[in-house]
Amino acid sequence: MSSLRTRGTRTMLALAIGALSLPGNLMAQSPSVPSLAERYKDDFLIGTAFDFIQNNPITEKEQELIRRQFNVITPENSMKPDSVHPAEDRWTWQTADRLVEFCHQNNIKLYGHTLAWHAQTGRWFFEGENGQPVTREKAIERLRTHIHTVVGRYKGKIIGWDVVNEAIADGGDGSTENLRQSQWVKAIGPDYLTMAFKFAREADPDCQLYYNDYNIEKGGKFKSSLLLLKRLIKEGAPITGVGIQGHWGLNHLPYVELDNAITEYKKLGLRVSISELDVVITGQGGGQLDPGPGPNGAPPATRPGAATRRARMRGPLPPPTKEQFQQQADAYAKFFQIFQKHKDVIDRVTLWGIQDARSWRQGQAPLLFDGELRAKPAFEAVLNAKHK
Ligand code: XIL
Repeated sequence: MSSLRTRGTRTMLALAIGALSLPGNLMAQSPSVPSLAERYKDDFLIGTAFDFIQNNPITEKEQELIRRQFNVITPENSMKPDSVHPAEDRWTWQTADRLVEFCHQNNIKLYGHTLAWHAQTGRWFFEGENGQPVTREKAIERLRTHIHTVVGRYKGKIIGWDVVNEAIADGGDGSTENLRQSQWVKAIGPDYLTMAFKFAREADPDCQLYYNDYNIEKGGKFKSSLLLLKRLIKEGAPITGVGIQGHWGLNHLPYVELDNAITEYKKLGLRVSISELDVVITGQGGGQLDPGPGPNGAPPATRPGAATRRARMRGPLPPPTKEQFQQQADAYAKFFQIFQKHKDVIDRVTLWGIQDARSWRQGQAPLLFDGELRAKPAFEAVLNAKHK
């Protein structure tokens, strides 16, 4: 009891002098810990991503943390095409609906992810009669039905959608759009993007409609993103904004490029979100999914649980040092400085996960809370990064 009181006094004292210094081991769900969502409420929404999965249920303590720290949630997997629409005539809504209900009960906003993507999308979308590839007309019809059904179902309950995810290929020089040769491009052509945006708008006249991708803030991929976004706007795609995923790492901290990219997107009249933020301390960062094929010829390891399997195959990484945790904290602080500089166009900053032990970059300690739900130095740094 007395130690609790001491903690409280220390926190209040630290707040009073402007900078926060959290006592060690403080549980992030505790009401005595400041709330990120509250701290940034005048700037942008602060989000997290998860699902009510059965094999590793979200604990009560995690739910408290979510309610306290975040005001918007992205379903990590449960609204992806293969989750809600595993076969042409089969829709499975249970996990997604559970999240919708949680958000409704707790007055938390919900952001939809994702409608047209090259991964976590059933092969049936692209299969035609007698083992032939699907015809263009049929693929368009399937895209339309999928989007109308999913967006229509959650109309009024979801603030926006990542309509198209990761359409640009890696490694281009930026002289073209460099579209990924996805099944959607092969079946329909480059105009599948504009169609997807139009279908989403038909199903919900009010929600935000975003293009979402990783590594688009820099290099050739950034230039390609400008070409693509300009084309979408020209073709009349009802696009609200661009999601910069933000899968970064201590060996990959594109501050200057990010600042510039947000400025350029704003010039196109677009809103911006940081949609999947994490900063790995060790190992590979970046947003690309594991490239190898899964068992039985399944597509790359994109199914839920892939991160765990990948971590198991890779073996343990060395635990981060105190200095590395501090470097991560400094990086988060710098990113939040940049986000605030652009708060006029930023809708939302979403962390890709609740805590390190649940992250798709498990073992790389990328988030603000550790597996015991203790606030990491990065959490404190984000709180203190708030401009006065
Ligand atoms: C990841 C999930 O976090 C994992 O659970 C799943 O196994 C694979 O997908 N970019 C995206 C997200 O847009 O949907 C991905 O999420 C991470 C990269």
